[in-house]
Amino acid sequence: MQPQFNLNNENTKIKEKMKNVKHKIAVLSGKGGVGKTTVAVNLATALAESGYKVGLLDLDMHGPNIVRMLGEKNPSVDGEEIVPAEILPNLKALSIGMLVESGKAVIWRGPLKHSAIKQFLGDTKWGELDFLIFDLPPGTGDEALSLFQTLDDLDGVVMVTTPQKVALDDVRRAIDFVHSMNKKLIGIVENMSFVRCPKCGEKIEIFGSGGGKILAEEYNVELLGQIPLDPKAAKLADEGKPVTLYMRESEVEEEFRKIAEKVAKAVEVE
Ligand SMILES: Nc1ncnc2c1ncn2[C@@H]1O[C@H](COP(=O)(O)OP(=O)(O)OP(=O)(O)O)[C@@H](O)[C@H]1O
Ligand SMILES: [Mg+2]
Repeated sequence: MQPQFNLNNENTKIKEKMKNVKHKIAVLSGKGGVGKTTVAVNLATALAESGYKVGLLDLDMHGPNIVRMLGEKNPSVDGEEIVPAEILPNLKALSIGMLVESGKAVIWRGPLKHSAIKQFLGDTKWGELDFLIFDLPPGTGDEALSLFQTLDDLDGVVMVTTPQKVALDDVRRAIDFVHSMNKKLIGIVENMSFVRCPKCGEKIEIFGSGGGKILAEEYNVELLGQIPLDPKAAKLADEGKPVTLYMRESEVEEEFRKIAEKVAKAVEVE
């Protein structure tokens, strides 16, 4: 797939399309592997289960993991538009991983990624949405820059971290980027906060503790949740089953529901 790009047309189309989307939220982190995609998928799923109309757009061009985490679902084409894959009746998703052959690399430089992102925003038939959630690759590279520059009305960014200091260093850089781009930091999600001992129920803090709280206090934003590291959650993700749907009444599910409620509240009161 090579993005087809016509600058004049595209900006108008994006404006028109995005008028139908009430809230636009990006999930970001300065660090790789901390759970951005997990948070994006489960935030979208939890919001959809609460009755909102939700779209999930994977903007990780080189590592599109949403496909695996939601199970293989295919988008279709309607005229010149892409119709995102239906995950639930009120949850749609689109990823470059649904459009290229599995296992094939997407070898694109910045300008091509910028064009592809604009096409995803302007040429996708999302319909009316309450929330459009964007999953981003780690760091503050081309994808985040393109999205932030293109969407003047992005509601804000959910920042994901793990508790350890090495993650916090990178996340601070990402927060600085968000602020430099004049976007709002909605709050911090601390993932992999602890493991619950299956025998005694005690919390084991394998990556240390308090990282999310430190960041939330430092930047005066809400700590949206602390998600435990749970081997079942990792297995379900590999099987394409979001934990909010398949780990009912677990600590992980509860935390994702709380996060979704807080995010919805944060953007709806604006
Ligand atoms: N709370 C959790 N419990 C168990 N496994 C988890 C948890 N959060 C994430 N994982 C697993 O850790 C791995 C990395 O998570 P994920 O892909 O969401 O991170 P990411 O930040 O999006 O990574 P990347 O930087 O590559 O985009 C995945 O296999 C995921 O299933
Ligand atoms: Mg990811």
